[in-house]
Amino acid sequence: MKFFADTADTAAIRELAEAGLIDGVTTNPSLIHKAGRDFIEVTKEICALVDGPVSAEVVALDHPTMMREAETLRKIADNVCIKVPLTIDGLKTCRALTGDGTMVNVTLCFSANQALLAAKAGATFVSPFLGRHDDNGWDGLDLIRDIRLIYDNYDFATEILAASIRHSVHVLECARIGADVMTAPPAVIKGLANHVLTDKGIEGFVADWAKTGQTIPLD
Ligand code: E4P
Repeated sequence: MKFFADTADTAAIRELAEAGLIDGVTTNPSLIHKAGRDFIEVTKEICALVDGPVSAEVVALDHPTMMREAETLRKIADNVCIKVPLTIDGLKTCRALTGDGTMVNVTLCFSANQALLAAKAGATFVSPFLGRHDDNGWDGLDLIRDIRLIYDNYDFATEILAASIRHSVHVLECARIGADVMTAPPAVIKGLANHVLTDKGIEGFVADWAKTGQTIPLD
């Protein structure tokens, strides 16, 4: 499963990229607002930090304006992936852009039927929002399972990008189900390294090493 960082925080992206933990980045208007940076400028910076797809979202609601915004965004870098909402106008934009060789992430997916439409429109990625689905009383993991089943039934090439990931169990279950990608906040990705027995093990090794009175010579 590929890991994308769901953030526009360049310091956090750099740290994860240096550890080889991320294959791409997703942003949205709320994350750009949180970063407090110019959209085009920060997207350019992010595109230089990772080799993989960097989702940048259009904000227009009509197809012609979405196309014009996408034109600006895709000029930022070769690894920009245009993010469009799962509406008929968004799907028209998806169809036009992918036909032209541009990566497209169809976002705000909350049903398997919507995911079916995204695949038919030729989306590179579809983003089902797991956490927000859970928040509203449905089972977000069931949604990912249904989309996986349907895409496999028809060999759709669209990748399932599990989004709105809130915690490590979401990550684990998405990997079990076979989501192609998951995007999560940097804290969730870094949190996957935590284990109480790892901490306890380090504590024991540090204590025993001190008792040896030795040091490893440093170059
Ligand atoms: C996906 O691309 C979205 O940016 C994101 O995962 C939304 O997550 P949220 O529900 O935590 O805002």
